[in-house]
Formats: sequence, C-alpha cells, structure tokens
Amino acid sequence: MKILGIETSCDETAVAIVEDGRFVRSSVVSSQIDLHARFGGVVPEIASRAHVQLITAVIAEALVEAGCELSDLDAVAACHGPGLAGALLVGVSAAKALALAADIPYVGVNHLEGHLHAAWLEEPDLASPLAVLLVSGGHTMVVAVEDHGKYRVLGQTLDDAAGEAFDKVARLLGLGYPGGPAIDRLAREGDARAVSFPRPMMGNGFDFSFAGLKTAVAYHLRGAPDSVPADIAASFQEAVVDTLVSKLLAAADEIDAPTLVIGGGVAANSRLRERVLELAASTGRQAFLPPPELCTDNGAMIAATAWWRLRLDGPTPLDSGADPSLTLR
Ligand code: KG4
Ligand code: ZN
Repeated sequence: MKILGIETSCDETAVAIVEDGRFVRSSVVSSQIDLHARFGGVVPEIASRAHVQLITAVIAEALVEAGCELSDLDAVAACHGPGLAGALLVGVSAAKALALAADIPYVGVNHLEGHLHAAWLEEPDLASPLAVLLVSGGHTMVVAVEDHGKYRVLGQTLDDAAGEAFDKVARLLGLGYPGGPAIDRLAREGDARAVSFPRPMMGNGFDFSFAGLKTAVAYHLRGAPDSVPADIAASFQEAVVDTLVSKLLAAADEIDAPTLVIGGGVAANSRLRERVLELAASTGRQAFLPPPELCTDNGAMIAATAWWRLRLDGPTPLDSGADPSLTLR
C-alpha cells in the first residue's frame, strides 16, 4: 500500500511516498530557510505563500523519485496540526484535491504523532513501552508510548520549546536562523564547563521550562560581552541536554521502559544523541535515534503515521479542516 504524505506545518514543504508504513520510496524536503533567515524566524504569511508556490513541484518530484503515477497511490495524507494555520491549510487542501482526483482516501495526521513514528520507520520492532523525548521548535514533551495510537504525555514545557530556546540563544549570539544546527556546530569548539547555566526544573517532575535559561544567557552576555561564543554555545547546549536527558530517564523509570526514543528537530542535535546513547548504555536500555533527516520535519513520518491511522480509524472526512493547536492524545 503506497501512501503519499504531505508536511507543511511550518517552514518545510515536504512530500514523501512510503510503502506499507515502512519503506520510504521517496522523500523530498524543500526548505524555506533562505526566505525567513533575514527576519530571524519563520514569518507565517511568507511560509503559507511559499508552500502554495512549491507544493505542486514537490509533489511531482516525490512521485518521479518513487517511480509512481498518481494512479499507483492508495491514499494521500497531510499533517493537519498542530502548526501555522495558513501553512497547514496548503498541505491539507493539496492532499484532499489529490484524494478526490484519484478517488482514494485522505488521512489527516497529527504532526506530533508523526514525529513519534519516525523511530518506527527505521526500526519497527521496538520493545514497548517506549519512553519518548519529543523535542522540536514548537514542542517539548516526554511521552509514554504503549503502541501505535496509545500515547500518554507525562510532561511538557511550561513555556518555550527546546528548539525555540536554541533559536533564541543563537540569535543572541548572532548565529542566524535556524539556530539549533548553528549552536550544535559552534559548541563542538567550545568548553561546556565555561559557564554554569541553570538546569531548569531538573529533578522536579516531568515538565520542562526553558524561558529562564534563555534569559540567563542574555544576562550573562550583557555582563560579559567578551565571552567566547563557542563556550556560551557549548555551556547553553549542555544545560539543555542535561535537562532533557534527566527527564527522559525519569520518564523511563516511571513506566519501566526498556527502550528510549527521541524525535523532533532537536533530536538531530549531536550532543543530545551522544548523551541518550550513554544513558541507554549506563541503564541497560536500548536507545533508538532516528537519522537526523527523519528527526526534522519530513513527509515520510506523515505517510508512515497515516498507514497506521487508516487501520485504526479509517479515512478522515474531506470536510475536516486543520487544527493549529491540535494536541497529542
Ligand atoms: O521538528 P522541527 O523540524 O520543526 C518543528 O516541528 O518545530 O524542529 C525544528 C527545530 C528548530 O528549533 C531547530 O533549531 C531545531 O529543531 N534543530 C536543532 C538541530 N537541528 C534542528 N536543535 C539543536 N541541534 C540541532 N542539530
Ligand atoms: Zn516538527
């Protein structure tokens, strides 16, 4: 069964074709970074317009790359939330139009459920329950996953998401947008012990808070403008990673999870990946880290999730819309 998945919730126009929920036949990601970089972040109106301009070509490229015609598809899926309203509507409308034209089912997919499925795409036999750290530009949460469709959010951020903190601190350091990859690179040359930034809410439940950490970096830079940027990047990153890893461990202990999983754009962070592998080794667990291209937004995670959703709920009605504040249930 071939499903075409569309992801347009933020600043990537992404389309993939995945067979049987597992085999990625094509995955095309057209990033809008250049359009948003000069504004220091994603501008929703520009994102929606760019999705409209790109979506047809990206769909066509995904079909060509997979060697498929529209008539070879069995269903079309789109991310229908959470995300930017105008941006989501472009993907949802395109998917519905294709579903109508080809007379095949349409499936609306939750973006967060998509990130959870990235791990299963590469490794379908993960031992349950999974303790999943889902860290992106818009969300930061630890989730207990029993099975496809069976999720329990144990904790989440009370203010900024981890990716948002990376992006804001990168801006303070003049590193441009998106900040996560820039801090990741610069931190390799820095000393993570140079500045002892706070580890917000460590040892205190499953929720996160990153707004204070970002402010601590701003105050530090104001008091010590000659700080070495690489040291700040490394010290900040270490504080975020310490917090993320400690919450993942607490969640895994709580549900007695044999498997640790990470997902979302920040899961591409090299230091986080290193530390999660260390945590798994030191606690006798398995860790599964999807490849970086499946951590950041992509169409394959949407198509893979749709395969399961079709089995669990059947098709999504064509009169359903997009929900910018959809949550994980
Ligand atoms: O999942 P994603 O692609 O989009 C959302 O759903 O938000 O995540 C994007 C976020 C951005 O904040 C970006 O800075 C961050 O992921 N990110 C990283 C890295 N790569 C992307 N953060 C830290 N280190 C990275 N290597
Ligand atoms: Zn995402």
